[in-house]
Amino acid sequence: MPLLEIRALKKSYATGEVALKGVDLSVSAQEIVAILGLSGSGKSTLLRCVNRLVEPDSGSVTLDGLEITALNKRQLRRARQSMGMIFQEFNLVDRLTVLENVLSGTLGSVSLWRAFSRAFPRENLDRALGLCERVGILDHIKKRADQLSGGQRQRVGIARALMQNPKILLVDEPTSSLDPKIGAEVMELMLEVAHETHVAMLFSVHDVRLATEYSNRIVGLQGGSKIFDERTETVKPEAIDLIYGMNKRAARG
Ligand SMILES: Nc1ncnc2c1ncn2[C@@H]1O[C@H](COP(=O)(O)OP(=O)(O)O)[C@@H](O)[C@H]1O
Ligand SMILES: [Mg+2]
Repeated sequence: MPLLEIRALKKSYATGEVALKGVDLSVSAQEIVAILGLSGSGKSTLLRCVNRLVEPDSGSVTLDGLEITALNKRQLRRARQSMGMIFQEFNLVDRLTVLENVLSGTLGSVSLWRAFSRAFPRENLDRALGLCERVGILDHIKKRADQLSGGQRQRVGIARALMQNPKILLVDEPTSSLDPKIGAEVMELMLEVAHETHVAMLFSVHDVRLATEYSNRIVGLQGGSKIFDERTETVKPEAIDLIYGMNKRAARG
């Protein structure tokens, strides 16, 4: 049984936009899967439906045998601890320190008053410091998040996502706000920590090179439908052209 199983997932927004038209997708334990597709193809919606930041209209999501789409709010809060999310825009709390941002990755399990009084259990603190060291931001833990560079901010995002020892990382275009060189460093780091912590990863990108370089499998989305799902080593360039709807003759001029 795969770690993550998505079945017939559909989502339309109130505006009438049909973002997902019945997507099936599975991710095995420790597998690294790239979602490739043009802007608007449904990548973010798909990732957000997995942890129900966006509520799907129909279909199911099952993680490690637990049907996420059948959970009530309280159960969902618990289940979200096993899914770490990393965002394109980092989504850090600017006025909090780096360390506090990383610690906030445990908010699902620390009661609110403790979070607000900033009294975190010692073990959480130790874990947060260890992760800060691992992602290379230990020297910056006392800085406010808004004092960091983009690459440093995403490192904080990675540490935060790992705080709860997730089974899977859901990663939405992690490098799109970064320079190519910094983006590649962030991708390398994510891959390394995914391997070290035996966590699976489902990440969206629109950069073909990043998808082919960093994934075990590539899934192509187009207009809310999966049009392609193959092991990365066997993916042919024509398939990539298909994902991007490119007309070769037109492209050659
Ligand atoms: N909050 C929203 N409200 C209305 N439409 C949305 C919203 N988010 C996304 N969409 C629409 O859903 C489709 C898929 O968007 P999205 O999942 O963001 O794709 P991608 O991440 O691949 O760019 C697009 O047509 C987009 O305009
Ligand atoms: Mg997106």
